[in-house]
Amino acid sequence: MTKPPTTIPSRRVGASALEVSELGLGCNRIGENILSDAEWIALIHRAIDLGVTTFDTAAQYTGGRSEELIGRALGNHQNVVIATKVSGKKEGKHSSFSKEAVIAGAEKSLRVLRRDVIDIFQTHGSGALDEVSDPEWAEAMVLLKEQGKIRLRGSAVFDSEGGLFAIEHDLADVLQVTYNLLDRGHVLPILPAAAAHGVGLLARMPYQRGILTGKFSESSADVSGHRASLQGDRLENDIRATEKFRQIGSGRATGLPALALQYVLAETRLSCTIPGARSIAQLEDNVRAAHAPRLTEAEARAIEDLQKAEHI
Ligand SMILES: NC(=O)c1ccc[n+]([C@@H]2O[C@H](COP(=O)([O-])OP(=O)(O)OC[C@H]3O[C@@H](n4cnc5c(N)ncnc54)[C@H](OP(=O)(O)O)[C@@H]3O)[C@@H](O)[C@H]2O)c1
Repeated sequence: MTKPPTTIPSRRVGASALEVSELGLGCNRIGENILSDAEWIALIHRAIDLGVTTFDTAAQYTGGRSEELIGRALGNHQNVVIATKVSGKKEGKHSSFSKEAVIAGAEKSLRVLRRDVIDIFQTHGSGALDEVSDPEWAEAMVLLKEQGKIRLRGSAVFDSEGGLFAIEHDLADVLQVTYNLLDRGHVLPILPAAAAHGVGLLARMPYQRGILTGKFSESSADVSGHRASLQGDRLENDIRATEKFRQIGSGRATGLPALALQYVLAETRLSCTIPGARSIAQLEDNVRAAHAPRLTEAEARAIEDLQKAEHI
């Protein structure tokens, strides 16, 4: 197999001065007990060797071990961008973020990550309107920026309403959204608004939790032990629709995974995409997919037609 290349193009995060590698690493697996600490640290270092400089984590991931291992692996490394998230107080489906909790969360993440400044600091909730429109988190973010503890303020959102409110009321420099071949509905209204207001977008779940790598099919749909097991009610339909995207990617050397990643990278209003990886082999595959040929016009048209037919 050919060696993966070692540079990744960068993009600016909205109108900010911050640049991110267009392929980042989603760090929600880092610290799982499937690898040793030394192996996770080696995976983070391998990402750097391959030109991946954007890391998305959260205080909550793997009970705090994701941030801790990133801190041990990278510390105050200046040529990386670390995005992390603060958890709120759970209230049913939503979370609330008091000013004190957001500030205390940033200070804790700074210590655990062993950094002087957090590049992108995001709320880790539903991002729904009632959550985003509560002024407390936004006030805390402004204060943290003034104090030089964070560079950019952000929020992970899962619906258009909350995202649009944050953009239109200048509450965030960057939003995290889900964007992939199978799931992008909430992002469609956010894309033009974010571009118009200079808000950056981090695109999570480019493989729809691994389903778009094509490793499951209708006849082989056992997702136990895989990230895809979190897809719940959507799983069956996602696997069925993936079969159709597989056809569109069949002309590519690396098939569906490259099509899936190139689809996300083709949307230039997104600042970067952050696939997760549970091994160095997956990381290297994802870097190869990021260097695969860009989406052709014919592929883009076929994808659009299929998304229309599937109401995606
Ligand atoms: N609330 C939030 O803000 C939120 C929510 C979700 C995600 N995120 C962020 O987005 C990142 C990515 O999300 P995600 O991990 O849920 O979805 P994803 O990136 O679409 O899927 C990642 C998973 O797909 C599988 N995979 C990845 N590369 C592969 C390869 N080359 N070959 C085969 N399988 C491969 C792995 O799972 P298996 O090996 O288990 O199949 C991996 O854990 C997270 O790490 C996190 O940073 C944020």
